Amino acid sequence: MPPPAIADATLAVPASGAARTLPIPKYLEQVYWWAYVHPNAVQLFEREWLVNLILFGNYGRLRDAALAELGETVTGQTLQVACVYGNLTPRLARRLGPDATLDVVDILPIQLKNLAAKLPADDRIVLLQGDSSSLACPDACYDQVLLFFLLHEQPESVRRATLAEALRVVRPGGRIVIVDYHLPARWHPLRLLMTGVFRKLEPYAMDLWDNEVQHYLPHDARPASITKQTYYGGLYQKLVLIR
Ligand SMILES: C[S@@+](CC[C@H](N)C(=O)[O-])C[C@H]1O[C@@H](n2cnc3c(N)ncnc32)[C@H](O)[C@@H]1O
Repeated sequence: MPPPAIADATLAVPASGAARTLPIPKYLEQVYWWAYVHPNAVQLFEREWLVNLILFGNYGRLRDAALAELGETVTGQTLQVACVYGNLTPRLARRLGPDATLDVVDILPIQLKNLAAKLPADDRIVLLQGDSSSLACPDACYDQVLLFFLLHEQPESVRRATLAEALRVVRPGGRIVIVDYHLPARWHPLRLLMTGVFRKLEPYAMDLWDNEVQHYLPHDARPASITKQTYYGGLYQKLVLIR
């Protein structure tokens, strides 16, 4: 049974005590408390210019690259795994066709509440508390799944489980769109800086420099196709997997 909706974009309020509260994963609490968990985190980071600065001016480009994969008009059932700061989800919501639906799953109620406040009243959109590594929905129930800058924040075992779950819940022929960090070219002027940033603040991110995302897929996964595009001297990537 799917978990109860914790926030409904039409109401933009948390659900009553009926909502099940899931434990916060250790890596979020220990490594990313300052970015997502702390009550002040949302106030600090929910600024488009700041998100854009963190991505060296590439936020709009990467957001639009992800949205383009989902469609000018988004049809069918879409799952966004994890909230993001900025206007990606409001823009995705604007693209929804009349019969389309969008579910957004995040482990942190504070992030879901923040997202609900950015979305219009729209009963096609449901925000759910859930863990990307163990999604509470049936197999093959989505047409497309979006993972925007989530994988680099997860320890390897969680990243593997998140990808396995994305593959499980997307229907055969459906797509998984991933936007995340990537090993930049050797000459990249930001390579040294980003090495330092990852060592200090994002200890799992370097994994995506050491290995392709495919490395973290289940061994028996056989996607029909995988298309990769890199951006900004290779520092970022967009991967589209067709199941
Ligand atoms: C998508 S990532 C980073 C996105 C990007 N840096 C941004 O601009 O927000 C951040 C989100 O992932 C969520 N998250 C991390 N681990 C998760 C998990 N295991 N299940 C569900 N959500 C998770 C966090 O709660 C947070 O809202």
